[in-house]
Amino acid sequence: MTLDPRVFRTVLGQFCTGITIVTTVLDGKPIGFACQSFAALSLDPPLVLFCPSKGSRSWAAIEHSGVFAVNVLGEEQQQTCARFGSREADKFAGIGWEPSKLGSPILAGSLAHVDCTVESVHDGGDHVVVIGRVHSLGEITGERPLLFYRGQYTGIEPDKTVPAPWRDDLEAFLTATSADTWL
Ligand SMILES: Cc1cc2nc3c(=O)[nH]c(=O)nc-3n(C[C@H](O)[C@H](O)[C@H](O)COP(=O)(O)O)c2cc1C
Repeated sequence: MTLDPRVFRTVLGQFCTGITIVTTVLDGKPIGFACQSFAALSLDPPLVLFCPSKGSRSWAAIEHSGVFAVNVLGEEQQQTCARFGSREADKFAGIGWEPSKLGSPILAGSLAHVDCTVESVHDGGDHVVVIGRVHSLGEITGERPLLFYRGQYTGIEPDKTVPAPWRDDLEAFLTATSADTWL
């Protein structure tokens, strides 16, 4: 079956996500790219995943360095996202950052960060699925996140952030290990 790429993007664009910048350092140079395809994967062992394009220069650098940090973007970081979503030569020009424990760049203003080593890599068509082992977690700032929806940036409304009534189930999502849970 042949799918129209525009329809594919439009339909998949109904799925709203946060945005991250995935970073590394190679030969002393900070490198990174905007990445929507990030997810928590496993609590025990602690694993996350992201899906870079096979043509991504950042992925080539991460594959070499073997380490990466995931920076979760806040609503003030639209410009940062645009920069890291481009193919600009020096995406870090004018961007404040400091190294994580494993040496990957943590961007100033990020809501949280996850410091990882590359655990395994799997084929995913024109992308790869990268599974990372989590070595440490950064402090959280409590600011509101930057979201991506229908190909545009958006955010959450402060008065919509009420606790969900099924909070206990949400907690169980990453902690339950019984046979009837998928994780
Ligand atoms: C909001 C947003 C989300 C993105 N998510 C992904 C993603 O999940 N995977 C990916 O390969 N590229 C993603 N991109 C595109 C890359 O950031 C972009 O192709 C970048 O130029 C790659 O640069 P590089 O070649 O320096 O790695 C996203 C871009 C934006 C703006």
